[in-house]
Amino acid sequence: QNARESLYIVSEYAANFFANELWTGEDGRAIGLSYFKERGFREDIVKKFQLGYSPDVWDALINGAVAAGHKEEYLEKTGLAIRNDKGKLYDRFRGRVMFPIHNFTGRIIGFGGRTLKTDKNVPKYVNSPESDIYHKSNVLYGLFHAKKAIRETDNCYLVEGYADVLSVHQAGVENVVASSGTSLTTEQIRMIGRFTENVTILYDGDAAGIKASLRGLDMILEEGLNVKVVSFPDGHDPDSYMHHVGAGDFKKYIENNRKDFILYKANILLKEAGSDPIKRAGIIRDIVESIAKIPDDIKASVFIRECSNLLQVEERVLLSELNKMRAAKF
Ligand code: UTP
Ligand code: MN
Ligand code: MN
Ligand code: MN
Ligand code: MN
Repeated sequence: QNARESLYIVSEYAANFFANELWTGEDGRAIGLSYFKERGFREDIVKKFQLGYSPDVWDALINGAVAAGHKEEYLEKTGLAIRNDKGKLYDRFRGRVMFPIHNFTGRIIGFGGRTLKTDKNVPKYVNSPESDIYHKSNVLYGLFHAKKAIRETDNCYLVEGYADVLSVHQAGVENVVASSGTSLTTEQIRMIGRFTENVTILYDGDAAGIKASLRGLDMILEEGLNVKVVSFPDGHDPDSYMHHVGAGDFKKYIENNRKDFILYKANILLKEAGSDPIKRAGIIRDIVESIAKIPDDIKASVFIRECSNLLQVEERVLLSELNKMRAAKF
């Protein structure tokens, strides 16, 4: 049995331990399970994603794991336990609801733990550190549960957080993943690309979400995938919006409000620019910059035409701009 295998095994043990606490522990039920219920998560979703609860003490998992024959070394190497200055081990996750992170074959490789406190000084999520089995830049939360639906629908919805994955799933839309705990990486986009060429971004409807959408769409285009964006009212994310409007309307909303990246960027940038002609010229350049990232010339030319129609700029002007940008890349 190799060392990585031992890390998988102790992670699996921890997920079962946290789930058992959630469903049978006194605090787990009163605090953890009630929390999920109050947020509107159905029991079948809580079970499917193997959600759990970490007791609010220093050594609950460690004691359970060691008694079950797991070595401290592996608890430490997965980051489930941390050794203090005095050499004593303590649990990383305490008094949090737990989201196990699966790799795409379904093995548990890490965790996100959400606090139940509203105190601003407590980090909302604590995540497993990098380990021999967990490299956050090439993991997509939810991929294991989404991959079949991604293939079948030939589209992948991309959200920001754990809760968004659960709620979109609960609405009956199973082709959804999150880049949880990190900003979107090229490796993550390539993983999606193994299942579909079509990505739909569903990020939070706040300034940070818009900024991340603009960055994400350029990266997705650069990898040769097609990208659309659905935006949400300010203050909402896919999770809160699903619970706000209900599953049926949420599904309709994300199907009917997809914008291709040109329309999405144009909307945002035109709002900022108003009628200032110099700023409007900047927008055109900004959009052509995104088009320049598309490796396929035929696709790029289709978007140049769309951009020309939308912004009322001659195609020939856009094409010369595009060629300049492409030349500058080499
Ligand atoms: P958000 O702040 O949007 O949280 O972060 P959320 O998912 O909407 O959380 P809820 O709905 O209040 O539970 C989006 C994602 O960023 C990561 C988490 O993966 C989170 O789901 N994150 C956020 C962290 O890793 N640490 C943090 O402190 C906050
Ligand atoms: Mn699972
Ligand atoms: Mn956010
Ligand atoms: Mn959010
Ligand atoms: Mn949220």
